[in-house]
Amino acid sequence: MSSVAITDIGSLVSNDSNIGDGALGIRTNAAIVVVDGKVAWIGDSDKVADADEKVSVSGKTVIPGFVDSHAHLVFAGDRSEEFSARMNGETYSAGGIKTTVAATRAASDEELRANTSRLVSELHRSGVTTFESKSGYALDVANEARSLRIAREFTNETTFLGAHVVPVEFANRSDDYVELVAGEMLHAAKSHAKWIDVFCDRGAFDVDQARTILRAGVDAGLQPRIHANQLANIGAVKLAVELNCASADHLSHLTDKEIDALAGSNTVATLLPGAEFSTRSTYPDARRLFAAGATVALATDCNPGSSFTTSMAFCMAVAVRDMGFSPEQALLAATVGGAKALRRSDIGALSVGMRADFAVLNAPSYIHLSYRPGVDLVDSTWVGGKNVYQR
Ligand code: NIG
Ligand code: FE
Repeated sequence: MSSVAITDIGSLVSNDSNIGDGALGIRTNAAIVVVDGKVAWIGDSDKVADADEKVSVSGKTVIPGFVDSHAHLVFAGDRSEEFSARMNGETYSAGGIKTTVAATRAASDEELRANTSRLVSELHRSGVTTFESKSGYALDVANEARSLRIAREFTNETTFLGAHVVPVEFANRSDDYVELVAGEMLHAAKSHAKWIDVFCDRGAFDVDQARTILRAGVDAGLQPRIHANQLANIGAVKLAVELNCASADHLSHLTDKEIDALAGSNTVATLLPGAEFSTRSTYPDARRLFAAGATVALATDCNPGSSFTTSMAFCMAVAVRDMGFSPEQALLAATVGGAKALRRSDIGALSVGMRADFAVLNAPSYIHLSYRPGVDLVDSTWVGGKNVYQR
């Protein structure tokens, strides 16, 4: 048994209303005791019991670690020129993915592992304690399996996204590619993946193709999630609800009917502010989702094309500034919202018994995450009670 006490927490956000005030369960002058990687006690700092190790955070803020439920971390190559052209007036399309596919196929395992490792370090530095990662930049049988095998070295939340776009060698034969993804590729990928995802959108896969692939994934033991309504509304949200997807992600275009469908379902609405920001697209209005009672998550969508950021705080700041989130809603969406999008109940809050995943902020309150955009406030990050990043 090993224990560590985190003491002198100026403001603790627990996300547990039994522990402190409001939905964020905020408590001042607090301490947390972690035993064997889990939260064992939360209370007043001056009443903390002895532990093997004591760490004073000297009045700083502690929040539950961010849960990044949507990221594409395994890839090679650079698309900064594409970003530059876009900022000069070009529009974003799904086709840019093919550039990354060529570079990813050509990369060695070591190169892909090193690229992923660098992004994982960045995520830890940004206070992320759990992250999902998708394949989808290889698009052939061996290399999709390879991408997932490498992703698994970093996270258990791995997602098979063989249906990201139709690769060039299948041009004008998209149904043949769907057959490959739902057959041989899924078979090679499934032991390395927990989830299956499809980019169901204009220029990618239509609803019938997405249904075929997601159903095949479910039959193979994977759980479904979906890229929906980023570029256009082709009916992906309805499919997400039909298939009980854990999450429908992007949602840049949403009808009231789709919002009601999400609110009445187990499918989390995941918004990705980095994607609208970096493709200069119109932001969805999250107030419509909150008003309907939908469960909302925020994620980075870290990928080389549409959102090359690992900063959850940046995404929160944009969500607050441009998507109608309150700072409180943004923090909940980036923590417990992400946990729900991954169907996890052991993370996303700091309640007794949960995994001791948290970030220490160099700030007097969590509001500074969106109040101080672009400022790196994370002082340290802890996963299962272990320090994975220290400024
Ligand atoms: O989530 N939308 C599809 N996939 C990624 C973008 C991929 C890319 O442009 O490389 C996304 O935004
Ligand atoms: Fe994505």
